[in-house]
Amino acid sequence: MNKFKKKAAVLLSAVMLSSGLAYSPAVSLPSADAAPSEYKSGFDQKVIKRFQAERSIEHIAYLSEEIGPRVTGTEAEQEAADYIKNLLNSYGYEVEEQEFAIPDRMSGTLETVDGNEVQVNIPSGSGFTDTDGITGLLFDAGLGYPEDFSEEAEGKIALISRGEFSFAEKTQNAVEAGALGVLIYNNSAEQPPLNMSLGDYESPVPVAGLTMESGQALLEDVAAEEKEVTFAVERLEDATSKNIIASKSPKHVDNPEIVHVTAHFDSVPYAPGANDNASGTSVVLELARILKSYPIDKEVRFAFFGAEEIGLVGSEHYVNELSEEEVNRSIGNFNLDMVATNWEEASSIYMNTLDGQANTVTESAEAAAERIGTPSPLTLYQRGASDHVSFYEGGIDAVNFIRREPETANLEPYYHTPDDVLEYISEERLQEIGELVGAAVYELIRK
Ligand code: BES
Ligand code: ZN
Repeated sequence: MNKFKKKAAVLLSAVMLSSGLAYSPAVSLPSADAAPSEYKSGFDQKVIKRFQAERSIEHIAYLSEEIGPRVTGTEAEQEAADYIKNLLNSYGYEVEEQEFAIPDRMSGTLETVDGNEVQVNIPSGSGFTDTDGITGLLFDAGLGYPEDFSEEAEGKIALISRGEFSFAEKTQNAVEAGALGVLIYNNSAEQPPLNMSLGDYESPVPVAGLTMESGQALLEDVAAEEKEVTFAVERLEDATSKNIIASKSPKHVDNPEIVHVTAHFDSVPYAPGANDNASGTSVVLELARILKSYPIDKEVRFAFFGAEEIGLVGSEHYVNELSEEEVNRSIGNFNLDMVATNWEEASSIYMNTLDGQANTVTESAEAAAERIGTPSPLTLYQRGASDHVSFYEGGIDAVNFIRREPETANLEPYYHTPDDVLEYISEERLQEIGELVGAAVYELIRK
């Protein structure tokens, strides 16, 4: 080991210790003086002993590697729904499938003659092609000013850099120069591909946003070497998504209170979604498995949502489908989204609420953390952007459990990128959140 590596290794182990990553769930720590009196009480033990992070890892591997990106409204999203449904059936639940329509969306592909696939993001307002797409040479149009186009641009696919003026004007200039399609690449190194708005402009030709990296690679290789690309854009109509729901009711309680434990299983394009949100899905699956056999005096609903990434559509549908009477019986929503990144800095479990205020769910999680000695600090924080929003708007106390960096609230750098993969998942953190939410939920619903 050279000097540099050694230093890095020492630093890493120090960070691991201070952030509680060295925590091993298999080892119980009955240190009498440090522990609260109810430390790991019998009912908590019933959850902790049975929660197996290895099972969650298997689910994440299936969802993020076997299936891969699970874009809303696609076959992959349906496959994920089937996987979840089959598991819940195997745990002994009767499973409800809740199908709903999603808005039409644009989908595109861009391939070079060498067979390289380029990631694209199609804005609404783009034109369409037939399924074969258009095939042509690229034209380097710089920033896309009118004077950047020569006669050479006619019949080619314009490649334009972001910057200085609007995407709609750049597209219009390309169309006026006779381009057959428009590709606009980012001017900063972000993943995923450029997500642009054309405003009210309806382009007669197909348009796509690209990453800066893709744009530069196309310029240096494909445009310079005069190689062709094939670019196709289609509009997907009448697509649907679905929620998967498994419920368990108490035996002898009329109109019991309801606890909703939830996670979304769809992902953004190109992201395998291991942490966002196979992680939450895998933990809720494991909680459904272990809580199946215990007597309870409240109702628990494990709900898995599609179509979160296009604007919380699945959870909004789920809450809208609840009757007023069911809403009144609902005491809380534990929503797990991005709970197991192994990014060291995300050492705190954030409890995001819409109003930034504590509620039944944050209080029950705080109490559970205290009883079982959850190693990571819990942070109450005001933030939406996940399915807890739908519950909050329906008048139900709701929390999004999500790992972030303390103080800055930063998310891991893999978020919404092709790097959101199993390799960056922490089994210890899966176990930690499983025990925490499991203990909190079980304390609420147990007999
Ligand atoms: N998993 C994220 C959760 C999240 C919460 C990310 C807060 C960032 C901040 C979620 O799936 C997501 O990406 N949400 C969207 C918004 C949503 C309404 C489509 C986002 O934050 O861009
Ligand atoms: Zn998410």
